[in-house]
Amino acid sequence: MRQADMARSRPTFVCQNCGAVSSRWQGKCESCGEWNTIVEEGDAGPTGVRATRGRPFELEGLAGSDRAAARIGTDVDEFDRVTGGGFVPGSVLLLGGEPGIGKSTLLIQVCAALARRGARVIYISGEEAVAQVRMRAARLNLSDSPVELASATQVEDILATCASGKRATLIVIDSIQTMHTELVPSAPGTVTQVRASAQALLRHAKTTGSTIILVGHVTKDGQVAGPRVVEHMVDAVLSFEGDAAHHFRMLRASKNRFGATGEIGVFEMTGLGLAEVANPSALFLAGRDSTAPGAAVFAGMEGQRPMLIEIQALVAPTSLGTPRRAVVGFDQNRLSMILAVLEAHGGLKLGMHDVYLNVAGGLRADEPAGDLAAAAALVSSLTGAVLPPDQAFFGEIGLSGAIRPVIHAGMRLREAAKLGFHQAVLAQAQQINDDDRRAGLALRPCADVGQLVATIAQTAPRKQARD
Ligand code: TYD
Ligand code: MG
Repeated sequence: MRQADMARSRPTFVCQNCGAVSSRWQGKCESCGEWNTIVEEGDAGPTGVRATRGRPFELEGLAGSDRAAARIGTDVDEFDRVTGGGFVPGSVLLLGGEPGIGKSTLLIQVCAALARRGARVIYISGEEAVAQVRMRAARLNLSDSPVELASATQVEDILATCASGKRATLIVIDSIQTMHTELVPSAPGTVTQVRASAQALLRHAKTTGSTIILVGHVTKDGQVAGPRVVEHMVDAVLSFEGDAAHHFRMLRASKNRFGATGEIGVFEMTGLGLAEVANPSALFLAGRDSTAPGAAVFAGMEGQRPMLIEIQALVAPTSLGTPRRAVVGFDQNRLSMILAVLEAHGGLKLGMHDVYLNVAGGLRADEPAGDLAAAAALVSSLTGAVLPPDQAFFGEIGLSGAIRPVIHAGMRLREAAKLGFHQAVLAQAQQINDDDRRAGLALRPCADVGQLVATIAQTAPRKQARD
């Protein structure tokens, strides 16, 4: 092979976090600022030095008669929802997530469902032995599905195997970090190997029309050669997320060349694998006591991702000289500011009260857009007025007491609607376009904290008066 002849000229140093290439070793990557991530690797891969001149090819116009790519549904609806209605033939998807979150479980379920429909499905595990994958399948009652299994890590062998026989509809590679290709000399798991392996698989998908799903482990500290380096190559990037203390799992698309990225798929990890959750609000806000005062649901965003978060407040008369202000999952300074604004412009007297603010589920609400929900929870706790359980809040509070618009209103509204909410309290100045209005939520615009306090006091049914 041509690549094999290529001499290993100079060593290259590649940051395992961001993929930046430098000519010498450094303790800190100049590109991403991470420490101890630079590793010596071989040549950055086949550069494809050509002896011949290029052949011209025909260029085409934008208008054409191509039909929309057919979608391949998997029967796992929550999964299809995120991919945009099923796989597009010849596409490559990256499924990222922390180890142990359930990526392999999800994919064996997707594979089994698709294979049961008669498609050829190949599942290659680079991490587990065939027996382990079989054991999992047996536990999930999937043994009868004609999925073709192998434990392998050599990309060329895998592609040769896939190329023989009927064209595979779906090939799962679990995981891309365990794959290695002969094309580059570096060790498995390095950025160069991950990238070159992904490229070889990508070529296979484009030429054969098989869909390939690459599994990629992501760790919180980003020390492992991240699948982030292949994100730009693939057609869709899905991430599987969840909290170790909870059973719910979320599938999101952060990139999708063939569909929208706002959709989320919700699953619950059970003893029998991942169950699709038809009504996520019940699960996600489970344990929420919507009959008690002091809780408000914040329609928040995690980066580009909408997420509903319950903010709980407790406002109680203090027994101390200096009242306490404590927060969990919320910014202390923002709480101080909100309290000051509620006193100055909302007419509340909080100087003799302890104030506790907690974000449920171990989540964090760091966005300024969470101000309105926090303020609503505080007012609710102080007055004993229960907030409507189907109400979600988002908006920033300014020092003047005005509620200010925030970005991504549409995504917040759609997420709230998806999770079963019917009303949204937001800034009066928030621009809502027709598309966002179609989320179907009743909008309750609020101009300032004075109006917020008045509305909560009058619309919510009062609990028994406090002493
Ligand atoms: P796995 O799919 O192996 O995670 P990943 O591939 O992302 O590393 O899932 C691992 C976890 O899922 C493991 O801790 C056990 C749990 N699990 C269940 O709770 N129920 C099940 O039916 C299965 C198969 C796994
Ligand atoms: Mg796995």
